[in-house]
Amino acid sequence: MSHPLRRLHMMRIEVFLDEAAAAVALRNEVVRGLTSSPKALSPTWLYDERGCELYDDITRLNEYYPFRAERSILAAHAKDVISASEPNVLVELGSGTSEKTRFLLDAMPMPATYVPFDVAESTLRDAAEALMNEYPGLDVHGIVGDFGHDIVHIPREGRRLIALLGSTIGNFTPDERAQMLRTVRETMNPGDAFLLGTDLQKDRGRLVAAYDDSLGVTAAFNLNVLVRLNRDLGANFDVERFRHRAVYDEAHNWIEMQLVSLFDQRVRVDGLDLEVGFTEGEVLRTEISAKFTPSAVNHELAAADMRVTDRWTDDAGDFLLTIAEVA
Ligand code: SAH
Ligand code: TRP
Repeated sequence: MSHPLRRLHMMRIEVFLDEAAAAVALRNEVVRGLTSSPKALSPTWLYDERGCELYDDITRLNEYYPFRAERSILAAHAKDVISASEPNVLVELGSGTSEKTRFLLDAMPMPATYVPFDVAESTLRDAAEALMNEYPGLDVHGIVGDFGHDIVHIPREGRRLIALLGSTIGNFTPDERAQMLRTVRETMNPGDAFLLGTDLQKDRGRLVAAYDDSLGVTAAFNLNVLVRLNRDLGANFDVERFRHRAVYDEAHNWIEMQLVSLFDQRVRVDGLDLEVGFTEGEVLRTEISAKFTPSAVNHELAAADMRVTDRWTDDAGDFLLTIAEVA
């Protein structure tokens, strides 16, 4: 017998990724990236289905402290975050498996709406389904899209908390992240809040170990981008002929993830009718992960016309969670 007061909750997933457009973007970017010097690719390509699985494995590694540090802040302060912003809609950019999101949802009064936003469709669908089952008072309105052009599709109703966790902001260059923060700010209504997770500067040894773990999971995650180029663009990268490396660039305060060519070699990309040469030791940059100071975070938010209202770190001071509102 169904309960008379049981509310019918809803799940809706909207897909804005247009496969043809995504294929064109992939092609253009790869041509540009592989023919520029130094060679580079956008981090978004790391997150195909296999990439999402490997990222999930990374979050369980001993060396990968950022995930545990951010989770401990949320465990301690989710209530403070929610009472500071009193949202009835939680929007999450780059939601992935939505694992840490549960701390926020547990602290939110129900009924409420969760809007996960991610480029990885099947990961988002699985997460949305799981949360629907766990939270009877929750509507889920998922958006499959790219930060670059789909943030405008996020529904604007309700009093919203917009979260960007996992130090995902640090995976973009300073220009790109300034642009992204401005885009977020433009979608905010007065009364909405923005919750940002950033990894903090620390000892180089721990930083490098977090991105070059002893089990080789991060190496597999990084090398998987070559598998993707082979599959999606008919390239013939031999994954064995490259190795993963993580370097801390102290001038920029970021970790750089690289694939280093072990030999002089040529690679064909049939789908692009392109052949590229790599010299022995040549680097293909696949991702950066910027490391912040609390005051730099405040500055970047201020530059996007946001005002910090509160912030928290974990006990070790490794990771920072910042909440901001429209300035
Ligand atoms: N928020 C989660 C996952 C972080 S991993 C956590 O804190 O653990 C980064 C997430 O951002 C991945 O799920 C990836 O698919 C997504 N992502 C990366 N680039 C993106 C883009 N350009 N547009 C939308 N989502 C993107
Ligand atoms: N946002 C995460 C970070 O910067 C993403 C990440 C974790 C990552 N490990 C990685 C990206 C390894 C590339 C390679 O920490």
